[in-house]
Amino acid sequence: MAHRVGIIGGDGIGPEVTAEALKVVRAAGVRLDTTDYDLGGRRYLATGDVLPDAVLDELRGHDAILLGAVGTPDVPPGVLERGLLLKMRFALDLYVNLRPFKAGTNRYNDGVDFLVVRENTEGTYAGEGGFLRHGTPNEIATQGSVNTRLGVERCVRYAFDLARGRDRKHLTLVHKTNVLTFAGDLWQRTFNEVAAEYADVETAYNHVDAACIYMVENPARYDVIVTDNLFGDILTDLGGAVAGGIGRAASANLNPARTGPSLFEPVHGSAPDIAGTGRADPRAAVISAAMMCEFLGEADASARMLNAVDKTDDVEGTTSRIGDAIAAAC
Ligand code: IPM
Ligand code: MN
Repeated sequence: MAHRVGIIGGDGIGPEVTAEALKVVRAAGVRLDTTDYDLGGRRYLATGDVLPDAVLDELRGHDAILLGAVGTPDVPPGVLERGLLLKMRFALDLYVNLRPFKAGTNRYNDGVDFLVVRENTEGTYAGEGGFLRHGTPNEIATQGSVNTRLGVERCVRYAFDLARGRDRKHLTLVHKTNVLTFAGDLWQRTFNEVAAEYADVETAYNHVDAACIYMVENPARYDVIVTDNLFGDILTDLGGAVAGGIGRAASANLNPARTGPSLFEPVHGSAPDIAGTGRADPRAAVISAAMMCEFLGEADASARMLNAVDKTDDVEGTTSRIGDAIAAAC
């Protein structure tokens, strides 16, 4: 049976890297029935549409969504982020943003092998807040952080399950409990309570600022990290930098309850400056597609894809040359 996958190539290098990812999925023997969706900056500038409700409803009917990147320089900040990416995360209840960081075996920083479980529907991203007296000298802008017991607990439980399935069975909570005494308290209490059910998982806690130091100085200390939405956003860019660069940083926006499709995307953006030059590294898109295959039950194919990325670590050249090499190694 072919898996039904909605494809949002998007803008800039998005369609280029997505094409390579699909090439590798097919080479790994996974059958997909794909539908292309024209969404992103180009469509917005042409029609004013960001994510029409009818399109969102169609996307719900798929097994997964594979996204390249969205964003063009002429679109004001927030339009596509809130209107497209976050709207999908919230509407499809993609409550875990899973980001793996693993340096290739040929790289100098061998030994880096951790995953960040980023809460993906709450925190400062929830959009609580607003302006008072906008544009005046007495202006007030507030932006709250929304943390629900349900939202925190389901994310923390996912992270414990993930850690339990790994060799090291180690989970670090990252927050800022010394300053964010309300949200941090809820996170820490929830973490401690869930930990009591996972006696086999070793736990640790780091403040987010300290975690930035540890991640640079000794990233191999981490196995699985669980953290809030905004901390996770920042920490995963750092993770990409320490694990061989943004060209390999992949992500899975998961609805673990499987009440709808999950969405898979490279962490890098649309890179309009190199679009069309063939210089985009498709590895992050390929790894994201491998995560998709795993989530769709194609564990063997997913492992072959990841192994192929690793084996072709030293291949340089154009986007399609790298994609061909990975596909050939599957
Ligand atoms: C990411 C991105 C997004 C985020 C933006 C584009 C909304 O930075 O996926 O990390 O902040 O989550
Ligand atoms: Mn980010």
